[in-house]
Amino acid sequence: MNKFSRIGFIFAAAGSAVGLGNIWKFPYVTGEFGGGAFVLVYLLCIVFIGLVVFIAESFLGQSSEVNVSSTFIKVSKSKNSNWKYGGFMVFAGLIILSFYSVVLGWILNYIVLSFGNLPNSAELAGSGFNQLVSEDIGLQIVFHSIVALITIFIVLRGIKEGIEKINLILMPLLGIILFGLLAYALSLDSFSKAVSFMFSANWSKIDENALLAALGQAFFTLSLGIGTIMTYSASLPKNENFIKSSFYVAIVDTSIAIIAGLIIFSFLFEAGAQSSAGPGLVFISLPVIFGQWGTLGNIIAISFFSALLFAGITSAVSMIEPVLMLFIERFNMTRKKAVIICGSIFYLLGIIALLSMSNAFKDSLTFFGKNAFDWMDFITSSVSMPIAAIVTCLFLGFFVDKQTIQNKFTQHVSIGMFNIWYVLVKYIVPLAITILLLNKLGVIQ
Ligand code: PHE
Repeated sequence: MNKFSRIGFIFAAAGSAVGLGNIWKFPYVTGEFGGGAFVLVYLLCIVFIGLVVFIAESFLGQSSEVNVSSTFIKVSKSKNSNWKYGGFMVFAGLIILSFYSVVLGWILNYIVLSFGNLPNSAELAGSGFNQLVSEDIGLQIVFHSIVALITIFIVLRGIKEGIEKINLILMPLLGIILFGLLAYALSLDSFSKAVSFMFSANWSKIDENALLAALGQAFFTLSLGIGTIMTYSASLPKNENFIKSSFYVAIVDTSIAIIAGLIIFSFLFEAGAQSSAGPGLVFISLPVIFGQWGTLGNIIAISFFSALLFAGITSAVSMIEPVLMLFIERFNMTRKKAVIICGSIFYLLGIIALLSMSNAFKDSLTFFGKNAFDWMDFITSSVSMPIAAIVTCLFLGFFVDKQTIQNKFTQHVSIGMFNIWYVLVKYIVPLAITILLLNKLGVIQ
């Protein structure tokens, strides 16, 4: 049986969770929402919502040992075959992967650039990034293709030989690079400023948008709502403690987000740059700072972008695996055929995403004021992932036999802990997500 080893599972699940969401997105969103207070809200979302759903997905996967669609049928009380539609959530993975691969392509481009002269002014760095995104279509396609090929190559080899192996290599490397960068950040005067920015509460920017951003970030960063954790847990050995491993993954993921934030803000403050630069933070602000540090700057730039690449690749493979598993098991496909089909879909969608930001094609690929890239992000992070999380919670709360769940939980935790989790999963979390979702979609203002 093609299963993870215990440690392989933890590495793979942590590899999935730790990604661009931690090192690219978390710092810039924190910067935009003013620091400390946002971090606190985010941590609450991780503990009371993210972790609850993570444990739910992990329970479902480990209990069923099959793909997401069959899981819903197998675990439900009624065994009603309509539950197979629960499997739809996995297709969001292909959409996320398409634009994720484009961003990973940019990172690859920045690794190459880091070997040469880095920009010496913010204008130059800004125009360099804009040039890449709006003019250099060919270059972006080349890098997107390389990322797509790497991803495909890994998943073709399967869970044990592909996904587990790459995580056992890249995750330690990522850890080493991040600790090196953290050590350097610690030696800078501005480290203490970064600490106080991230940990002293500034409530002035905390509004409903901040709450939504924190929740969305909690889902995205823990890889929830597309069946990744369910699918990986289906390959978790039967008697492993899925609750403990969920805690480990959440702790590693959160620590890395915080460490990435401390590193990036120390660098930014050292150079007197703004913390609220938005998505361009790592592509525009950081290269200028690295450029001021001479050769050491080149080394730090290469390390930093490699860390992003490693973190991103281990997440990319986890976005496509749930769809592959579903195609292989439900449609009796070979892994190779499933990879070819899914690989082609996300590759082509990625090209649409990158074209939609280019000057040449943006007009024809913008719909209702949003380009295709932003639509793909919106439909997944703001619509399908939260809906999938609600479905998962309600499914467990109302359509699965409580005693069965309880029996499995109480092998690992006390009945009291189980009851707390059960109330959260059945009522609180779905309600909270629904309110936030409706709010985001503009249904309630
Ligand atoms: N968790 C990953 C990140 O933070 C993204 C991801 C989302 C991976 C959904 C798998 C599934 O970058």
